[in-house]
Amino acid sequence: MFSTLIESATPPATQASASERFMLLLESALNAREVQRLLLTKPQGGEVDLERLMVREVELRGERQLSMVWRYKTRDVTKNLPLSEGLACLKGLLGMPFQNAQLDTRLQEVQLAFSRKGKSSLRVGKAQGAAADRAASSHDHQKQRYLDLAQPFWQDLGLTHEVRGEAVLVPAMSRKWKQINKFIEIFEAALKSSSLADSPDVHVADFGSGKGYLTFAMHAYLSGLGKQAFVRGVELRDDMVRLCRDAAQRHGLHGLGFDQGDVRSYTPERLDVMIALHACDIATDYAIHLGLRARAAIIMCSPCCHKQLRPQMSSPALLRPLLQHGIHLGQEAEMVTDGLRALLLESEGYETQVFEFVSLEHTSKNKMILAVRRAQPLPQARRQELLAQIEAIKAFYGIKDQALQSLLCPTPA
Ligand SMILES: C[S@@+](CC[C@H](N)C(=O)[O-])C[C@H]1O[C@@H](n2cnc3c(N)ncnc32)[C@H](O)[C@@H]1O
Repeated sequence: MFSTLIESATPPATQASASERFMLLLESALNAREVQRLLLTKPQGGEVDLERLMVREVELRGERQLSMVWRYKTRDVTKNLPLSEGLACLKGLLGMPFQNAQLDTRLQEVQLAFSRKGKSSLRVGKAQGAAADRAASSHDHQKQRYLDLAQPFWQDLGLTHEVRGEAVLVPAMSRKWKQINKFIEIFEAALKSSSLADSPDVHVADFGSGKGYLTFAMHAYLSGLGKQAFVRGVELRDDMVRLCRDAAQRHGLHGLGFDQGDVRSYTPERLDVMIALHACDIATDYAIHLGLRARAAIIMCSPCCHKQLRPQMSSPALLRPLLQHGIHLGQEAEMVTDGLRALLLESEGYETQVFEFVSLEHTSKNKMILAVRRAQPLPQARRQELLAQIEAIKAFYGIKDQALQSLLCPTPA
């Protein structure tokens, strides 16, 4: 595999040492933007719990930086440094404390090793194995460029695990990974068309955040844009809140927080973006309502388990032969629920779309309601027209109560 082996104990002044050659190869790979992985392992001396240092290139506020994650037994410490500072820092870590360094580029695999006596060797070979696989699958990476699988917090959430020092997607999580990438892709377009496009800070709430996949994703995406991201997950289950809080703290993710709470009684301080991925049944209506009350610029949710309307729906005579089948009645209830939600959002001055955001193979709960607040208020006549349509549909199906509508217009006691 390795085509070149360079060894040096005390190199003559004119001959570059193995470490110097390693740094030169790293710099040129960075210049060519071909670094795929850099890992420093086998730490010696001082820090007992230190396991490895993982380095990757990131772009923060338009500047290329090295993101350096020191992995200890029970925590990670992350530092982002401008390229030149990062390279200087790395240079000082080769040999002591780290006895090994592995650099994978698109074309090469480079290994630097130090013996106990301090003798260093450098091996340079053609990329193969994981590095070559990564190059071959660069098309997939491009398709999913919104989120970075190498971010260490995914492992805490159970989305990735480590295989030979590299973060790899847990196969059972591939559908969730697809969903959150797609969610962020759609969010990106909505953000650009919203009043938040040039805002330096963005406040987001993720209702029914569960294990926090989307919450972390949103924080990572907005931070990567150079915005100050204040992202809160709101979740009923205490165990999940604790898991997410610990992971956010462990990785020093400022602005990312989790509250144990019920969306039905939660009051956010400021809310620019309301998101909810599969919040159960009418939790989605409460989440949309909170977004509306806060005049959020973007409201984005993928609903699940549409239970509220089905028992209320009396089949209109013409549709009875169709809706006699339970499956059709369920589908009808889902369509009417989300259709009414979209009309209500429209009537509140939001440009609203309902569409499939991932294909059925990734989840059966693949519907998205996306609402972006219009710059201009809705003309009264249009609002009245929409409200009349809502009442007509409710009357047609004999619906008495739809949660979002009741929250918006509570009936007087
Ligand atoms: C199907 S899970 C989705 C979790 C997460 N959004 C995801 O997609 O991975 C729905 C989550 O909503 C939470 N939930 C349900 N009703 C809620 C409420 N009223 N307030 C806050 N969380 C709620 C549940 O505990 C559950 O974790």
